Amino acid sequence: MKKKLIAGNWKMNGSSASNEALLQALLAGSANWQCQVAVCVPAPYLAQVQRLVAGSGIELGAQDVSQHGAGAFTGEVSADMLKDFGTRYCLVGHSERRQYHGETDAVVVAKAQRALAAGITPVVCVGETLAEREAGRTEEVVKRQLAAAIHTIGHCISEIVVAYEPVWAIGTGKTASPEEAQQVHAVLRAQLRAATEHADRVHILYGGSMNAANAAQLLAQADIDGGLVGGASLKAIDFLSIIAAAH
Ligand code: PGA
Repeated sequence: MKKKLIAGNWKMNGSSASNEALLQALLAGSANWQCQVAVCVPAPYLAQVQRLVAGSGIELGAQDVSQHGAGAFTGEVSADMLKDFGTRYCLVGHSERRQYHGETDAVVVAKAQRALAAGITPVVCVGETLAEREAGRTEEVVKRQLAAAIHTIGHCISEIVVAYEPVWAIGTGKTASPEEAQQVHAVLRAQLRAATEHADRVHILYGGSMNAANAAQLLAQADIDGGLVGGASLKAIDFLSIIAAAH
C-alpha cells in the first residue's frame, strides 16, 4: 500500500527565523515517520528550506507556478526555477488562487503541465464553495475541475496528486465530516479509474481545517491518502500530531 502524504501549506506566512525554528522542531520529531511529508513554502524561502531539509524526511514544495515557460512575465516564477531549488511538489489551483487571482480550470491545468514537464509533481486542488454545496453541486464542480486535468494531461494523470479542499472548510475551523470527505474522494477516485489503470497510485489528499484532533478519523477513510494542511502546519506540535496519525 502506498504511504500517506502529509503536506503543509504555509501560505503567505513565515520569516527566515520562524521557518528555521519550525523546521528544526519538525526534524527533531522526525525519527519514526510512517508517511511522506512535504512543506509548500513561499517562493522566497525555497533556497532556505531546501538547505534545512536536505537529506531529511521532509520534501520541498511550492505554492504556485507560472503557466508560462520563461521570458517577459514580470513577477512570475517558472517550473524550471522551482526545480532548480529541488522542489518536489507544487500546488496548483488552490482555491485562494482561483478566487483571488481569477485562475480558471484552463490556467490551472497549464500550470500542472509546466510542473510535470519540469519533473515536479503538481498537487491539483479541487473543491466546491459553500453556495455550490448548498445547491447540491459538489460532485459536478469537483468532477469538472478534475476532468480539465484528465483531459489535458492524458495518460500522465497518475503522476499528479489531487487535493480535495472544500472551500467552506479552509481556514474556517469547519471540517467536512470523514463521511462527507470520503464520499467526494470516492467520486474522484472513480473518475481517475475511468482515466487510468494506475488510479490507486494517485494520492488524493483532504484539506480544510485538518488538525491534530480530526486527522486520524479523516485519514482512516478508504480514499483519503493524506492531508493538505494550512493553519495547523505552522505549529510544529500540531503538524507532528497529524503526521503521527498518518500510517
Ligand atoms: P487550512 O488550509 O488547513 O488552514 O484550512 C488548508 C489549505 O488551504 O490548504
